Amino acid sequence: MNVHPEMNGSELSQRFQDLFGQQPAIYRAPGRVNLIGEHTDYNDGFVMPAAIGFSTYVAIAPRPDSKLVVQSENFTGSFEFDLERLPSTRQGDWCDYVVGVAAILQNLGHKLSGANLLVHGEVPIGSGLSSSAAIEVASAMAFLGLTETQIPLSDLAKLCRQAENEFVGARVGIMDQFVSCKGKAGHALLLDCRSLEYKFAPVPAGIQIVVCNTMVKHELASNAYNTRRQQCEEGVRLFARHDPSIRSLRDVSAEMLNKYGNQLPAVVFNRCSHVIHENQRTLDAASALEEGNLDRVHDLMRASHQSLRDLYEVSCAELDIMVGAAQGLPGFCGGRMTGGGFGGCTVNLVRKDSAPEFKEAVAERYEKKTGIAPQIYLCTAEDGAQRLN
Ligand code: GLA
Repeated sequence: MNVHPEMNGSELSQRFQDLFGQQPAIYRAPGRVNLIGEHTDYNDGFVMPAAIGFSTYVAIAPRPDSKLVVQSENFTGSFEFDLERLPSTRQGDWCDYVVGVAAILQNLGHKLSGANLLVHGEVPIGSGLSSSAAIEVASAMAFLGLTETQIPLSDLAKLCRQAENEFVGARVGIMDQFVSCKGKAGHALLLDCRSLEYKFAPVPAGIQIVVCNTMVKHELASNAYNTRRQQCEEGVRLFARHDPSIRSLRDVSAEMLNKYGNQLPAVVFNRCSHVIHENQRTLDAASALEEGNLDRVHDLMRASHQSLRDLYEVSCAELDIMVGAAQGLPGFCGGRMTGGGFGGCTVNLVRKDSAPEFKEAVAERYEKKTGIAPQIYLCTAEDGAQRLN
């Protein structure tokens, strides 16, 4: 499957008209793949994701009353809410992402208009490619567009994360929403998750981003995510006893880790060690990409995967097999698990002319070992969210 944002919105527009009898505005927001910098965003650290060609589309038109009517082309059912009485927490359905964004916008003082919405999602769900950030960002743009309200994209990313944290109840960091807003074709985005300063690092010409979906998602993912966050916070409390200016693992140097780390429980030490070194790997990978030094990128991605597997313990057998399956294939320039972990995808940098054979070979090796037929996506880095019509 080659993944490019090809939909221009006219078909969705037609289906919206058939449903609601109105001409909609259409917004698109992409999913993402993270090249390096994993489990660092909620530690105020560095990440380097790219927006990809899988997107979620939201078609919207105003209603004369104060209702939100929300439907999806991916799921059955129609949801109806009154803007005067929006729920303040999750209802346990896919529309939580849309309603959560509306509720947070209202909490922040934005006046919303009643609306009909139709969602069309192409980001594979539950695969670690941020289908949730994509629907949040496209919805937020749609709601704000309807009332012609303009806000900086970084604020839009923040309020979408807030919806996921406070309404949906997932304590995610800012990476996914930010790159869905700000991604740039042909580039990865190096983001400082503390200051939200960012710069683009070019994906070298001749390199394809190949995303390999293990097709598994293990149940423990969301619990384990929150536990990792708590373990990082525990580490911060210890280091802050030695230096009160420390607010997050971002502030802890490798020297401090070596000096005081023996006072931490072994598991907490491992978690902190991953985060502190992953931050440095991410900065190094951005420089290496700029220099076109793919050997260095390869080594950094490999070290990242090993650290996520052994120290942060968020990999799983299928991810390790998929990473292993890529090793030594012609054109392979580096790969690792990507996203939160416990299933989902690996990300690989592969020379473009070798990508089609890589795709076949990696799929065959993976299926032989696991009995599972994977999906392999040949991706490019794409632009962030936009209005289509
Ligand atoms: C999930 C979260 C992100 C980030 C990654 C791990 O994708 O949504 O905020 O924490 O896990 O890097």
